[in-house]
Amino acid sequence: MKDLTILGVESTCDETACSIVRNGRDLVASVISSQIEIHKPYGGVVPEIASRKHVENIIPVLDECFTQAGTSLDQIDGVAVSYGPGLVGALLTGISVAKAIAWSLDIPLLGVNHIEGHIFANFLTHKDLQPPFLALIVSGGHSHIVYVKDYLKYEIIGKTRDDAAGEAFDKTARVLGLGYPGGPLIDKMAKEGNDTAFDFPKTKFSDNPYDFSFSGIKTAVINQINSMKMKGQSYRVEDVAASFQKAVVDVLVRNTIEAAKEIGMKTVCLAGGVSANSLLRKTMEEEGQKSGIQVYYPDLVYCTDNAAMVAATGYYYYMNEKFSDLTLNAVPNLRIDDQ
Ligand code: KG4
Ligand code: ZN
Repeated sequence: MKDLTILGVESTCDETACSIVRNGRDLVASVISSQIEIHKPYGGVVPEIASRKHVENIIPVLDECFTQAGTSLDQIDGVAVSYGPGLVGALLTGISVAKAIAWSLDIPLLGVNHIEGHIFANFLTHKDLQPPFLALIVSGGHSHIVYVKDYLKYEIIGKTRDDAAGEAFDKTARVLGLGYPGGPLIDKMAKEGNDTAFDFPKTKFSDNPYDFSFSGIKTAVINQINSMKMKGQSYRVEDVAASFQKAVVDVLVRNTIEAAKEIGMKTVCLAGGVSANSLLRKTMEEEGQKSGIQVYYPDLVYCTDNAAMVAATGYYYYMNEKFSDLTLNAVPNLRIDDQ
């Protein structure tokens, strides 16, 4: 069969990215322009600024992607773009550019789900990985345990009932005065801390033991700090960071491994920005080993938002003739089982 070369476009939040991937697994080029520095002073992503920056960045990023690939637009077989979930203004930039390219070249447009893209990031790192497997997707906006039955066939097993895991990292980092984004900062700081210094809650729901709740951990951190401040007690930020991270990771690992056992799944994949967390990667691997479960996670560069994962997903959409037309619109609350 002829090689299939897909251009991926990503602009759901604060990364403008373009990538070219061949046959869903082989990276040809990937360019990511991050707006983190621009949003840092505000302690989080400002949607209006994000939209404006995507408009400014998308064409230079696209140009750089083709320069890196050493190829031209006419070598592309299809254009994949994340059409949700995400910030509506941000999404529209990527969607408009993808539509324009698909229309002008008369090639298929492939509107893909960004969360699904995070799962497919694993295929860029692990070329032989195949469904079925269980995926833990943990990012700034989402925390899901998803049973990936086959390519493009999903069942949600558990999800957060309030904050996403990444959101909990970001909010807790803000409380600790560490800056934005909080995940990598807490990860680093926790290495110097005592993770048994504080006992933060590890919520478990009786009606669905695979669901998550992270807002309680964040509130417990705030209460703990306020109480120590009021009593004039000193504390090490490193210890709070380490204890918080341990509580979040323990819950993520516990629920995922229990779900894998329940379904009888021997393969677990991590995905999304929080899958870059060093303790999560280590603990999931260790706990998986105890239960004969093989654990995969993407290379660090494919954990946080990128367009290679979008192009990889687009390949499977193309193979399944799941094409979009030019009426494709942004769906800010798109779910992974809305397929
Ligand atoms: O997947 P992503 O880039 O964007 C979304 O789709 O949301 O994820 C960003 C999230 C942020 O909340 C960030 O703090 C978190 O991923 N993150 C981490 C780490 N690196 C990024 N969380 C914990 N530990 C990390 N090392
Ligand atoms: Zn993401």
